[in-house]
Amino acid sequence: MKLYIETYGCQMNVADSEVVVSVMKDHGYMRTEDIHEADVILVNTCSIRENAETRVWGRLDVFRLARKKNPELIIGVIGCMAERLKQKLIEESKIVDLVVGPDAYRELPSMLVEVEQGKKSINVKLSKEENYEDILPVRYDTNGVSAFVSIMRGCDNMCAFCVVPFTRGRERSRSPQTILREAQELVDSNYKEVTLLGQNVDKYAWKDKTGTLSFAGLLEKVAQTNPLLRVRFSTSYPHDMTDEVLEVMAKYDNICKSIHLPVQSGSTKMLELMKRGYTREWYMDRIRSIKKYLPECSISTDIITGFCDETEEDHKETLSLMEWVKYDFAFMFKYSERPDTFAARKYKDNIGEEIKTRRLSEIISLQNKLSAESKKQDVGKTYEVLIEGTSKKSKEFLFGRNSQNKVIVFPKESAVIGDYVKVKIMRSTSATLIGEIQDV
Ligand code: SAH
Ligand code: F3S
Repeated sequence: MKLYIETYGCQMNVADSEVVVSVMKDHGYMRTEDIHEADVILVNTCSIRENAETRVWGRLDVFRLARKKNPELIIGVIGCMAERLKQKLIEESKIVDLVVGPDAYRELPSMLVEVEQGKKSINVKLSKEENYEDILPVRYDTNGVSAFVSIMRGCDNMCAFCVVPFTRGRERSRSPQTILREAQELVDSNYKEVTLLGQNVDKYAWKDKTGTLSFAGLLEKVAQTNPLLRVRFSTSYPHDMTDEVLEVMAKYDNICKSIHLPVQSGSTKMLELMKRGYTREWYMDRIRSIKKYLPECSISTDIITGFCDETEEDHKETLSLMEWVKYDFAFMFKYSERPDTFAARKYKDNIGEEIKTRRLSEIISLQNKLSAESKKQDVGKTYEVLIEGTSKKSKEFLFGRNSQNKVIVFPKESAVIGDYVKVKIMRSTSATLIGEIQDV
């Protein structure tokens, strides 16, 4: 039997799809990259913004055509949209047979049996325990160099705009033993980089007879797995990020000097409305700490513009905070109201589309300027780069990242994918750094 799987949304979804492929493989399903060869199509979905869902509805139309050619084809929607829309996915699409929430992937094989018997099958139960820690993910779509390892699931933060706590349920941490085992298995299979994943990694907490372990403690243990294994993590939460984590980062060369610290807004009033649990000043204090412990660290962020009641003043505070931090990179979004969230229930989505669009474009152009400045400062410096692949533009060039997570392109010489090389930055373009391998 053949499985075709498509993944949308965050890195956690990518990691989840690897778990799903593992579960399916154990029940005799081989993966295919050709829709027309598939017996089962699964689409792992995202609900974070309305357009993420719109895209999936568009894909379902494509799968509808595949079903016409192959009436036996089973179509399943898994992940956040499955959790949010439940039965509605079956009713409104008319082609979906299977709806599986993020905590029910172990049930996939038995649900498929039901579908084969002509039934529709739904399981959107959320769990307080499930973390798939015993399932070894099948890393099917990788460069063989870097991999994700999820260290926790769910989120208890309840930011006013966010659907994640509803689609992914309560926060729960995975045991350090299984995380470390997975890291070691990656090393054994020649992987060079691991990214630890959680919606709020700073809330990682493990407790057993031997004691307790915080995120800082876990990070240190993963870093000790092997000095040649680079360690990254995502995402840090401004309210919870401790100096202890920064100290561990400073202590280990193989922990990458790059922090993603979503700010969302530069206005304390907006942060309060968003229920983020920190102020502009608190956030600035966290940035000062990063710069103190890790002067070489890159900082990236997420920003939402046009959230409820955002004034021109609030917007300007976001711009001024961006200038102050000098972000190296940012994901920037217009606010998209999500059903059932606190904001949807209690506030009015009262910033017009035109204003949202204009504010977003101001934020993007400022970030483009900041990113370009940050890259210019790298010219002339030499970085250790982990090679991830061949440049899309030319076979004669390779690309990789430095510790700061910046992409660097350079002539390949005799280097190969998976090598660490020293690269001197010769020039920068708007999107990339271009360098040359230095003789060691
Ligand atoms: N804890 C995760 C959050 C995942 S959501 C993290 O910190 O990465 C990723 C980003 O999507 C958020 O940081 C936020 O900037 C954006 N986002 C979430 N809900 C949104 C909404 N309703 N409208 C627009 N952007 C949203
Ligand atoms: Fe969403 Fe806030 Fe959690 S953005 S994922 S509720 S930290």
